[in-house]
Amino acid sequence: MEKQLLENTINFVKLKLKNAEAGHDWFHIERVWKLSKIISEKEGGELEIIELGALLHDIADPKFHNGDETLALKISREFLESQNLEDKKIEKVLFIIKHISFKNRNEKSEFSTENPLKELQIVQDADRLDAIGAIGIARTFNFGGFKNNLMYDPEILPKLNMSKEEYKKSDGTTINHFYEKLLLLKDLMNTEAAKKIASKRHDFMENFLQEFLQEWEVKI
Ligand code: ADP
Ligand code: NI
Repeated sequence: MEKQLLENTINFVKLKLKNAEAGHDWFHIERVWKLSKIISEKEGGELEIIELGALLHDIADPKFHNGDETLALKISREFLESQNLEDKKIEKVLFIIKHISFKNRNEKSEFSTENPLKELQIVQDADRLDAIGAIGIARTFNFGGFKNNLMYDPEILPKLNMSKEEYKKSDGTTINHFYEKLLLLKDLMNTEAAKKIASKRHDFMENFLQEFLQEWEVKI
């Protein structure tokens, strides 16, 4: 990617995320950007689109902006237009930002399973890899603390694929976030390269949870 555009994008993102919560700050973006480049070495895709998508993907996360899902797209479009990026490229970058989220994973889109956008698959994998493993654990507890959530509630039995009712009851504890999201991510990776990295990180989380629950019950 052109050096000036890369530099401008990095500076823009750093400025926008100056006061971000530690799990969604510039360092998260930097890790996702680096992971995206590593995955792309094996899986291909247009690097300029991948890098821009990775750098801009959390520019205005709806959960920190009153649920506004259009703000990130608006900010990114304005920025990319100010950089005179071609329209066709802008649309691809915006597509990544719109569809990367775990929440929207079941949403239908023009780049569905029959016609996936490789650049989205790569950045999505990178973002999901940063949500698991040791960093994933740290980010999740940081977010829970930021929200003043309970770490764990022994009344709620953590398990995968909870029913809607169980899910509602469980809402809020940090340990439960592992069961409602983090432990599901390894099977949602799009690329082979990411699946490999995910496997090690997943095992580490399983070990962590086992230790956590044992120590919680003060089994020494
Ligand atoms: P996405 O944008 O893919 O839907 P999120 O931004 O919601 O993903 O989640 C990113 C990370 O933020 C999670 O991997 C986790 O570390 C943290 N996080 C999000 N929601 C929660 C929660 N309810 N409890 C603890 N951590 C959370
Ligand atoms: Ni992210």
